[in-house]
Amino acid sequence: MKKRTYTDRSIASSDITPEHVFLNRRALIKASAGTMAGALSAPSIAEAEASTQSTLSFSQDADRSLVDEQTPYDAVTTYNNFYEFGTDKSDPARHAHNMTTDPWNVKVGGLISQPGSLHLEDVLSGFDLEERIYRFRCVEAWSMVVPWVGFPLAQLLKRLEPKADGKFVEFKTLFRRGEMRGTRSFTSVIDWPYREGLRMDEAMHPLALVAVGLYGKTLPNQNGAPLRLVVPWKYGFKSIKSIVEINVTAKQPKTSWQMLQPSEYGFYANVNPEVDHPRWSQRFERKLPSSIFKPNRVPTLPFNGYEEQVAGLYQGMDLRKFY
Ligand code: MTE
Repeated sequence: MKKRTYTDRSIASSDITPEHVFLNRRALIKASAGTMAGALSAPSIAEAEASTQSTLSFSQDADRSLVDEQTPYDAVTTYNNFYEFGTDKSDPARHAHNMTTDPWNVKVGGLISQPGSLHLEDVLSGFDLEERIYRFRCVEAWSMVVPWVGFPLAQLLKRLEPKADGKFVEFKTLFRRGEMRGTRSFTSVIDWPYREGLRMDEAMHPLALVAVGLYGKTLPNQNGAPLRLVVPWKYGFKSIKSIVEINVTAKQPKTSWQMLQPSEYGFYANVNPEVDHPRWSQRFERKLPSSIFKPNRVPTLPFNGYEEQVAGLYQGMDLRKFY
């Protein structure tokens, strides 16, 4: 891949959590499942933020006058893709409240030491929640900057003890027709449940996050409550919502968008301004909130700005072929 360096004028690099910073911000929120409700209240995050401010290092070349705010909460929670509730961006915020998220179980299986079913509380128990401010780039060429709350996917996977021949991780979303009007619609094109997958080394990468909250609050249903993936260097469709099943597999799992249109959506789906979608360019993105008066059009960065951290995962791979 041709290497290009962009100066992103809309987002100061100090707004995005690079690895050395988030490692310092670990244990931002000391919380386990038992205290999760408390941990997700705004003050604890604000306090933790204050206590870690000194660890934030600002990049020399960042023009502070151009620092963008994080995408407002309203935009993050009203402009969504969650096809289970409809295809319009406003459908998830209007209809996802119909999804029951309590109780919530996650089936874990495949090539792990003890397949079974875990209550959400068991999934979360023992993990410290952290705040991670990540860029989020949809394949449709809009983007956001979101302060997520969650824990590294690697921690959960380690607990599942994948076997040596487990090379991939498969994820599935809840599929409950009665509560998900989009799955009943005649325009529904996805073979439900929504599925996604990662290669094991991608899943174990410290940037891959299981999010349970955003902006210091529990995840709203439309953003994938009660737990979702956030893989910030990949197009947003890899960040599967409302997960109910995790399987470790030997073979590359089938993923929803790839099954639907393999020529347009690949398994890897790494953000790549050099490889256009067959129907539109991926060189630029529209940073939300945007309008015709303020388009907020900014260049897209390789691996969504996380090249330094993740490019090594793809060494020697032709990223045009493995898009
Ligand atoms: N997960 C499920 N289950 N169903 C979906 O339709 N859409 C994906 C991803 N995860 C989707 C999903 C796409 S295309 C994007 S861009 C992101 O969710 C959007 O996340 P957001 O609505 O929180 O911004």
